[in-house]
Amino acid sequence: MRVAVIGLGYVGLTAAVCLSQAGHEVTGVEADPERLARLRELRLPFFEPGLLEGMTGALRSGRLSFAGDVREFGDPLDAAIVAVGSPQLPSGRADLSQVTAALQSLEALPLAPRLVMLKSTVPPGTSRRMLARLGPALARRYVYSPEFLSQGTAVRDWQAPARIVIGTDNKELLGEARELLRGCEAPWVVTTPTNAEMIKYAANAFLATKVSFVNEIANLCDDVGASIDDVVEGLGLDPRIGPAFLKAGVGWGGSCFPKDTRALANVAVGHRRSLPLLEAVITVNNRQPVMLLGAIHGSLQRVAEPLVAVGGLSFKAGTDDTREAPSRTMLPELIAQGYRVVAWDPLVACEVSERVFPGVTRAETFEQAAAGAHLVLVLTDAREIVGADWGAISRQMQAPKLVVDGRNCLDATFLRAVGLNYRAVGRAAS
Ligand code: UDX
Repeated sequence: MRVAVIGLGYVGLTAAVCLSQAGHEVTGVEADPERLARLRELRLPFFEPGLLEGMTGALRSGRLSFAGDVREFGDPLDAAIVAVGSPQLPSGRADLSQVTAALQSLEALPLAPRLVMLKSTVPPGTSRRMLARLGPALARRYVYSPEFLSQGTAVRDWQAPARIVIGTDNKELLGEARELLRGCEAPWVVTTPTNAEMIKYAANAFLATKVSFVNEIANLCDDVGASIDDVVEGLGLDPRIGPAFLKAGVGWGGSCFPKDTRALANVAVGHRRSLPLLEAVITVNNRQPVMLLGAIHGSLQRVAEPLVAVGGLSFKAGTDDTREAPSRTMLPELIAQGYRVVAWDPLVACEVSERVFPGVTRAETFEQAAAGAHLVLVLTDAREIVGADWGAISRQMQAPKLVVDGRNCLDATFLRAVGLNYRAVGRAAS
């Protein structure tokens, strides 16, 4: 099929690369001239494992190309995927201007594509409202298919999704959709656009709920002398609960969970409904970094000129994305409290950390960051942090030699054996 993918963020670019690998002739459309120029120079605007290699191969094969505007197409398209941003406005509502503009640009083509698939996350009811405005011609070709890619595993998630959700009012499009997504083996959920939109929000809200729930239980474990690791093992083996998304720590961040939980809460407000559970999930998450900061202040009270080393700036390991990462709230607070802060991250670029974390010194390695520190704060479970030479780090740290493990990823027994004080989330009894 001849396919256009509009919007080359991590969803759109992953889609463009994987679709060309599946044999389609794909043009990736990116309106930002700087991003487009970078892509043409084979430079990714973000880090995503396997994507650069895939993109390079797809460009060489001739099945992938880039354009700045969908109007550059000469030949008619078989399908178009829209994966532009839908950021949150200060009012809490989703900014749908990019989505609307992309759909309008497809409508304006002399020969509109047979299939138009929206992938951007949009509040339930959006497709219906947009289609009513944009007209029946688009409605006949329109499918809403939410994306469930996780950063760090996006390519694998595209190729082997847990499910494919297709929301459409025109079942005749299913053949086109199957042809477009050929090679992605997964159960299909075929439903209405509004249901598909709701599935996306409900999935992210549920996963965020699991993490906030386990964080609450972990906090209580510290009070009662229980170990969250053992508690989660016992919980997760119940097939009705499952072990996924039960890792306690500093809380969730990133480009999806914070935005989508807030957006869902906002949708409820629009319908004069309160969602107390979702509100609590957000509140618990906001409290986790504050709780760890409290523990840090308590431990460093008597230290003159405390030096804090931070391992990991991104919202999770395996990505360079710092959007809504715990580091974004914690590091400014540490600086405001008068601490010297040295940080290291395996993927976040130097210029980004200088811009996003003013006042924080950047180290070349994790061990270098930790040298001379009174406290090490671990904010991602990056391989280099978990596998660091903790014996050497202990020898170079200053009292109280405290490691605050915000990801419950280190071996408490080993760290204590090498002379470090260790604190995590729900592991006081470990
Ligand atoms: C998420 C969804 O998983 C994905 O389906 C959706 O398309 C986009 O949002 P992503 O934001 O890449 O993906 O990250 P994910 O791996 O889901 O983790 C989200 C946050 O929860 C991270 O900050 C992570 O550190 C945290 N988390 C996750 C935990 O604290 N504990 C866990 O057990 C799991």
